[in-house]
Amino acid sequence: MADTILQNGFLDHPVFALVSEVAEESGVRAFVIGGYVRDCFLGRDSKDIDIVVEGSGIALAEAVARRTHAHVSVFRNFGTAMLKYEGTEVEFVGARRESYNRNSRKPIVEDGSLEDDQRRRDFTINAMAFSLQKADFGALVDPFGGIRDLAAGIIRTPLDPDITYSDDPLRMLRAIRFAARLSTPERSFVIVPESLEAMARMKDRMSILSKERIAEELNKMLLTERPSMAFRLLDQTGLLEYILPQLRRLKGVETVEGKGHKDNFSHTLQVVDQVALQEREEIAAGKRAEVNLWLRWAALLHDIGKPGSKRFDPAVGWTFHGHEVIGARMVPGIFQELKMPLNEKMKYVQKLVGLHHRPVALVDEEVTDSAVRRLLFDAGDDIDDLMLLCNADITSKNPAKVVRLRQNFERVREKLVEVEAKDAIRNFKNPITGEYVMATFGIPPCNTIGQIKERVKDAILDGEIGNNFEEADALMRSYAASLGLKVVGQ
Ligand code: CTP
Repeated sequence: MADTILQNGFLDHPVFALVSEVAEESGVRAFVIGGYVRDCFLGRDSKDIDIVVEGSGIALAEAVARRTHAHVSVFRNFGTAMLKYEGTEVEFVGARRESYNRNSRKPIVEDGSLEDDQRRRDFTINAMAFSLQKADFGALVDPFGGIRDLAAGIIRTPLDPDITYSDDPLRMLRAIRFAARLSTPERSFVIVPESLEAMARMKDRMSILSKERIAEELNKMLLTERPSMAFRLLDQTGLLEYILPQLRRLKGVETVEGKGHKDNFSHTLQVVDQVALQEREEIAAGKRAEVNLWLRWAALLHDIGKPGSKRFDPAVGWTFHGHEVIGARMVPGIFQELKMPLNEKMKYVQKLVGLHHRPVALVDEEVTDSAVRRLLFDAGDDIDDLMLLCNADITSKNPAKVVRLRQNFERVREKLVEVEAKDAIRNFKNPITGEYVMATFGIPPCNTIGQIKERVKDAILDGEIGNNFEEADALMRSYAASLGLKVVGQ
């Protein structure tokens, strides 16, 4: 095995030989551990390296830093030290036996052996180590069968899951995140049943986690290729009820007089996956620079207002009128609850949730220029993201219906391009400013100015006049005259 590891170049980074040498001189044993080892076997790039030392991690880091003249950052409270070597962050920690206080994620730490340290890690696939000892450089140390679980696609805790999750409940979210992230279309990663059962039992332990850490994990789940997998697991284990109960309320199908509606939870998850897929396609086609976490949040929350708007109308069946308005109003509360930013990111999500029905509604109607101009005006620069979300929102069990709706949707898209080329509404600026109205009619700041500007804006968006100063100025003058205003000096 050690030969295979060396042949594969897993330990080619110069820091490994260096740490090996300095550890021997210092008389301590050092190992590469955790995500780096896992990612080597998965053929994935790992951004940082964790070194565990049977002895003081800080002392070894300082000794390595003396050799390389690198700056070392020491975190005495955690017993860790970090240095940057040839562009890679390398973290050093002493091998420990840990026990946890029930009310905090902060461990009580004692020195221990490598195996003590591995036993206290989250999952077997994250508890593998490569030896950096000269005698067996590159040997895999894997007492809990991490390599077997990695090959089989299994997420399992080294200890009884009740202990591992109770020690640090964040690991329940990490298990789900790893299952979603490591799964590929060819091979799913599954969390072993006893672990899932332990999560269901331990869900109340989530209360010791900070909301920020929870949100960080949710963000990572949303950024996976198929986020639905993570959210289904969150639901299955009962964790979703604690984290995002509003999402769970989308579950279920009610039937009245033989008429049911779609399960909005499944639909939402399908939309999130489709957004992720379409983003990847647009990136591959060079149409998009990178994935957008907030677009994924918008997809996750797009129908969040549905339970609050649900009605049964005997004539038409189930309706969700105004769910986008209710949903948009719910977004700030959800962001606040999860301690997520309440800045322009939240406003973007709120805007997309509020507008997500507009392009689809256009599909059913005749696509008029003025409806398209209004949509462009309201969405502004976020129009492309909104269109992606709406396209992903077209789901139905009937494939013919999906094809028909997508074709109609393409017509809306073409019309958007056409109208934008003609009228440049996307970054609309009213050709008439408040100052200009005041100067022309010699009036002080007052409501009438807003009224005149609104009239001009509506006229442009409705196609009554062109989006240019001359026509806007003429309308301003005739409208102001109808309000009894006189041009100064006349
Ligand atoms: N770890 C743990 N329990 C946690 C967090 C981390 O046992 N709650 C251990 C795992 O062995 C993990 C290592 O610390 O592999 C490093 O943690 P981290 O950097 O968060 O994760 P990685 O496994 O490196 O994965 P990635 O950074 O790719 O998400």
